[in-house]
Amino acid sequence: MQTRITELFGIEHPLIQGGMHHVGLAELAAAVSNAGGLGIITGLTQRTPKLLAQEIARCRAMTDKPFGVNLTFLPSVQPPDYPGYVRAIIDGGVKVVETAGNNPQQWLPVLKEAGIKVIHKCTSVRHALKAQSIGCDAISVDGFECGGHPGEDDVPNFILLPRAAQELKIPFVASGGMADGRSLVAALALGAEGINMGTRFIATQEAPVHENVKQAIVAATELDTRLVMRPLRNTERVLHNAAVERLLAKERALGASLRFEDILPEVAGVYPRIMQQGDMEAGAWSCGMVAGLIHDVPTVEQLINAIMAQAHALITERLAAMLR
Ligand SMILES: Cc1cc2nc3c(=O)[nH]c(=O)nc-3n(C[C@H](O)[C@H](O)[C@H](O)COP(=O)(O)O)c2cc1C
Repeated sequence: MQTRITELFGIEHPLIQGGMHHVGLAELAAAVSNAGGLGIITGLTQRTPKLLAQEIARCRAMTDKPFGVNLTFLPSVQPPDYPGYVRAIIDGGVKVVETAGNNPQQWLPVLKEAGIKVIHKCTSVRHALKAQSIGCDAISVDGFECGGHPGEDDVPNFILLPRAAQELKIPFVASGGMADGRSLVAALALGAEGINMGTRFIATQEAPVHENVKQAIVAATELDTRLVMRPLRNTERVLHNAAVERLLAKERALGASLRFEDILPEVAGVYPRIMQQGDMEAGAWSCGMVAGLIHDVPTVEQLINAIMAQAHALITERLAAMLR
């Protein structure tokens, strides 16, 4: 399948694996790229730029296909060494960067000069238009369904995607709630040029996370996610567990006076314990409503081939037959 996204990134299928903290390591990114999609290493999961450089080299040893790096710009008192991470990306010869969080404007000149394509992930049309105006090459439009940070506007993809199509000139992919060939065809119909998936890629053989995480996604239904940190305007969609229940109880009790420090035990530094050690009650971890559509743990190649085969059949058989 050819779309503006496959052409922009030089990939076979319009399928992207979004950056995921402590999941987007070289093993997963390489598997996605080898299967014809665009795999993405999560920059900040590597504690230093030097470690990111090593992770990029590891990924390059596993694939000769294009892959990207995610740079998440978080509001923080002690910001990570972003210039160092950007240098590691450029020196590592990476040609695609997925930015997320704050406006990436400051980093665009140096990325562009290095010939790097930038896809900015955002949750509203106004942020997408801003990203287009500052020179981003593409947008990942992240709907309210998504795992991770859906923003504060709560607009689901059935509205957000056609709104993006009405406004944007640069290509965009649909992110949030995407799982299969149905998702891909629907996203294309709504104006997107491909899909970005997070949660679905965690439940794959190659995802370098504990088996408990994969099984938790398979066991979850579409009713099992919760929104946390809304009072802090840092909303995150996470899988429900005991830690999330405690966190929500604190939010109810403290109301508008809630501070980040109040919920540190439930959110700070919990990812390695969940993703690597499989301690599923260690804290709050991002997961999309799409968990309700995930019932298996295939290899990445099986997943991608199944998505493309289902999309092809939907377009050429089911939809085409309706026009006869
Ligand atoms: C466990 C997990 C961790 C994530 N970490 C990040 C991150 O560090 N940076 C980022 O930009 N997005 C992150 N995301 C969001 C994904 O890249 C993607 O946008 C989102 O998962 C799409 O929604 P879906 O889960 O419904 O497919 C994360 C998502 C999950 C599920």
